[in-house]
Amino acid sequence: MTTETGQFERLFSPLQIGPMRVPNRICETTNTIGAGRLAGVPDATFTAHHLAKAQGGTGWIGNETWLLNSPLPNESADEFFPGAGATRFPIYMLPNFAEEVSRFCEAIHATGAVVVFQLTQLNFTVAASSVPIVEAYDWVPHALTEDEIEAAIDTYAMAAGQCAAAGVDGIEIHCTHESLPQTFLSPALNRRADRWGGDAVGRTLFVRRTLERVRERIGTSTALGIRVGAEEAREGGYSLWDMREMVTHIAATGTLDFLDVDVGHSWGRQPYVPPSFIGHAENRDAAKALRADVAPVPVLFSGRVNDPVVAEDLLAKGFCDLVGMTRAGIADPDFPTKAREGRLGEIRRCIGCNRCIGDAVTNDAPDMFKRAVCSVNPAVGNEALHATLMRPAQTPKRVVVVGGGAAGLEAARNAAGRGHDVVLLERTEALGGQVRLASRIPGRDSFEDFILYEENQMRLLGVDVRFGVDVDAGSVLAFEPDAIVCATGSVPRTPDTPGVDAADVVQGWEVLAGTAGEIGERVAVVSQEDHYETPGIASFLAAADRRVEIFHKWTGIGSRVERYSIGPILRRLEEGGVVVHTGLRLARVEDGKLELVSAHTGEPRLAGGFDTVVLVYGSVPDTRVHDGLREAGFGGRLFLAGSAWVPRLLAEATQHGARVGLEV
Ligand SMILES: Cc1cc2nc3c(=O)[nH]c(=O)nc-3n(C[C@H](O)[C@H](O)[C@H](O)COP(=O)(O)O)c2cc1C
Ligand code: SF4
Repeated sequence: MTTETGQFERLFSPLQIGPMRVPNRICETTNTIGAGRLAGVPDATFTAHHLAKAQGGTGWIGNETWLLNSPLPNESADEFFPGAGATRFPIYMLPNFAEEVSRFCEAIHATGAVVVFQLTQLNFTVAASSVPIVEAYDWVPHALTEDEIEAAIDTYAMAAGQCAAAGVDGIEIHCTHESLPQTFLSPALNRRADRWGGDAVGRTLFVRRTLERVRERIGTSTALGIRVGAEEAREGGYSLWDMREMVTHIAATGTLDFLDVDVGHSWGRQPYVPPSFIGHAENRDAAKALRADVAPVPVLFSGRVNDPVVAEDLLAKGFCDLVGMTRAGIADPDFPTKAREGRLGEIRRCIGCNRCIGDAVTNDAPDMFKRAVCSVNPAVGNEALHATLMRPAQTPKRVVVVGGGAAGLEAARNAAGRGHDVVLLERTEALGGQVRLASRIPGRDSFEDFILYEENQMRLLGVDVRFGVDVDAGSVLAFEPDAIVCATGSVPRTPDTPGVDAADVVQGWEVLAGTAGEIGERVAVVSQEDHYETPGIASFLAAADRRVEIFHKWTGIGSRVERYSIGPILRRLEEGGVVVHTGLRLARVEDGKLELVSAHTGEPRLAGGFDTVVLVYGSVPDTRVHDGLREAGFGGRLFLAGSAWVPRLLAEATQHGARVGLEV
């Protein structure tokens, strides 16, 4: 297909993969985001989520994984862990599952895209050997017997048969991310002395047998491939060279139609869902090497490719044949169409915050309350509802939005998109609010992409943005609005601890904003916050050559940061020499001396010699404008949105703002 601008010729060219013709090179690799109302079932909300990507131009829809039935003894308990499970009764065995998959495939096929389902044995109860998967779970798994290995291989063949019968175009065997096949491939995890272990030939036997048995079951009318991590990135794990040898043996079976490559695992220093702290397409060389080994089998590469320009470059330079752009499509399912039409400034890029994967694997809300979520795309998980609500306003209104942070911008964007006449009043000289502050943290410059997107949207939608206006109720009412959205954000929380009003005690947000004044050489960061702010501010200070010590209220910093991002953040702190003290609360501060209390014993502790003390205590809503408007008896619709209602995370602010814009 040619593009309207001629810019992305390779990205939009079709590719024949065995029996499957992919209309372009843009792939949604498997992402178990939990879009269905019941985990893993391709129901209406699941379909709406993945269909949005196909309709937006993604050619390969990988959707969500099929967790297979584990080879457990009948008497053992089913066990579920974050993002994995050991069960004899998986979702795909539910009645009607096959019909739902067929309906899903029909919906995707109607767009011209193909459907690839991943089959996975992902549990930490059974493995090639009794070796714990370091960083994942510390228990020692049961080493599979010959019979159990055969039973496990059969589960792939059985599920693959069901996939093929339901109309799936491609099947991928999940051989990385701590899945069962990876425990066979890994020299660190596979210590078997029988034919399933040993050298590269032995360690690939499980994968080779699985491919052969699946192929026997599905024949040649469905494409078949594997997903491997190009290197194991853990102590004693396989290197790229080892994997090159292993894929050569696997490809020699003649069963492979495609090879899907990424790098990393679910925990630790090299996550396979790379957060913004990791470079774009950082591991592309590994994909190129494996591509040479398995040629002419096409190679799919993923790993923080959020931009069509980068994707085209990867194809042009021979790193891969297909590009995984999974979170790119979560953040903006229409990005392929926008790229093809040359509307690059309209693409809402994935900022690599990893809220999506974090919630998918650690959100322990019951299924019926779970929602797929994205920080920048408020429609995720509610695609059908958003499409219904995004209708032209029956009576266009004059809407004043106060505050140009995430919630205000989304309120303005959605209201203007529906035809309302929108004025946005921003107190400072720039849009973005807290997102702009977050973008100052090392490795978080990607957050600026969200602001750029919103700035472009304001321009395209004709929102009247006014900067430097510090409003009160009277000045807002002077616009004669029909509706007002107060998205005035929040301000840093200051505790009533003695001494915090001294000049050498500043707020973390002031440090990021550059308004804290002179920051001395030795800095104490006092933290009552469990997400990104504490490590982010500490790494900002460490990058500015300050000697930083964190005093945190509880057992460890960043406890709410998901497992794919915490490693790269802690790495920055370690490299920056940041010292972390835990279980301490501030009781008093004076002249760079901290009087602390142990959270566990109540005993006093002392620390001193600091030039600057930085407080990170979360924030409190700023409702002044809203309160004034209520007092003034404003008769139109008055909304309080985002942090001004209650300070939360970015996804909650964008969703709240967007829903206000859709309601107004
Ligand atoms: C919410 C979410 C769930 C994921 N689940 C899976 C999975 O079940 N199997 C898998 O192989 N990869 C999974 N991934 C990894 C993606 O397939 C992809 O490799 C990763 O997001 C990096 O690519 P990207 O930078 O294009 O997003 C998941 C990713 C996300 C964001
Ligand atoms: S939640 Fe964050 S990482 Fe996930 S798709 Fe959205 S912007 Fe990207």
